[in-house]
Amino acid sequence: MHIKTLTVDKFRNYEHEFVELCSGTNVFYGNNAQGKTNLLEAVYLFSHGRSHRARSDAELIKFNEGIATLELDFADSNREYNAVMRFSRDGKKQIKINNVPVKKLSMLMSYLNVVIFSPENLEMVKGAPSARRRFIDEALSQLYPNYLVNLINYHKVLAQKNSLLKNLKFSKVATDAVLSVWNEQLAEFGTAVYKYRDEFIEKIGNIAKPIHSDIANEEFELIYQPGIKMTGDKNSFYETLEQNQRREIEAGTSLVGIQRDDFKIYTAGNEAKIFASQGQQRTCVLSLKMAETDFIKSVRDEYPVLLLDDIMSELDINRRGFLWERITDKQVLLTCTDIDDIKNDSKTAFFEIKNGQIIK
Ligand SMILES: Nc1ncnc2c1ncn2[C@@H]1O[C@H](COP(=O)(O)OP(=O)(O)OP(=O)(O)O)[C@@H](O)[C@H]1O
Ligand SMILES: [Mg+2]
Repeated sequence: MHIKTLTVDKFRNYEHEFVELCSGTNVFYGNNAQGKTNLLEAVYLFSHGRSHRARSDAELIKFNEGIATLELDFADSNREYNAVMRFSRDGKKQIKINNVPVKKLSMLMSYLNVVIFSPENLEMVKGAPSARRRFIDEALSQLYPNYLVNLINYHKVLAQKNSLLKNLKFSKVATDAVLSVWNEQLAEFGTAVYKYRDEFIEKIGNIAKPIHSDIANEEFELIYQPGIKMTGDKNSFYETLEQNQRREIEAGTSLVGIQRDDFKIYTAGNEAKIFASQGQQRTCVLSLKMAETDFIKSVRDEYPVLLLDDIMSELDINRRGFLWERITDKQVLLTCTDIDDIKNDSKTAFFEIKNGQIIK
């Protein structure tokens, strides 16, 4: 899968820029705060529908402007796509692929696959469980629209359930009855999500093992920590919810479910979050991202586009060499402030980014 052209208009600090990309490594270099990450963000938006860092779409629109427009030409081995995305200040977002409106995010996400790798990803190892769930959700949502549909439905029901638990307005009998209806729905959607996650963590762990051993010569293991005790069928999900009903009413919120899922990362026999050094933690992220890349290839039979945001400077020379070797057969968009460490070969294109302008 690869991107041919990107156009940004009134997007972040860009007025109007067009760039043609090569199918190898595209290096965007320049000083801080010039607009390098903004370009990766623009590409990311086409694969996920929302930004990896903005809290709202309005942030994406250039200051004092009303509408931001992005356009992307990309191709996989079967066909070519033209995608347009438009954000306006009233919160409306329009997406078209080959001129056909895309109404649902779950429909957008399966066209373009990307894997993003940025310094914030360190949170996957040392941060809260939400960062690890995000990693899972990003990977699975772009491969399986059905996963995202179940996840969205689950969270809709969960929000209703939590609002009732927070503010009990019915009699005990009525409350129990309403909760049971919602628990049934949560069991339905939640079990689907659980199955995808369980399988994903096992597979990604197995793919990452040899990668990690190549980079760091250390063992690597992932262990799923579901937020609910269950056997894997929806009856056991439902039963666990029902068993926790009294506790949840007392707590005024949901206590069990896939919204509390997590996974543990072990390297060299110890839990990485607690014992790994900063460098070891970074290596875990590198292994997981490379494993995600191979996983996408195994499902789609296409490599995703890699977005590497300012990570070369964080890796030592061996790890940099390792990464470089693994990305040569993929399309990469890479940002850095200093190009001294970047190999300059026929498969690499350089673009200087200066105050919202792209200079080839
Ligand atoms: N909506 C917006 N309108 C105008 N400018 C914006 C908007 N949002 C962000 N910017 C500006 O875009 C600039 C560049 O941001 P970006 O994150 O792409 O920088 P960068 O080149 O990646 O820098 P660094 O090397 O520090 O990571 C910032 O100075 C920011 O103020
Ligand atoms: Mg940046």
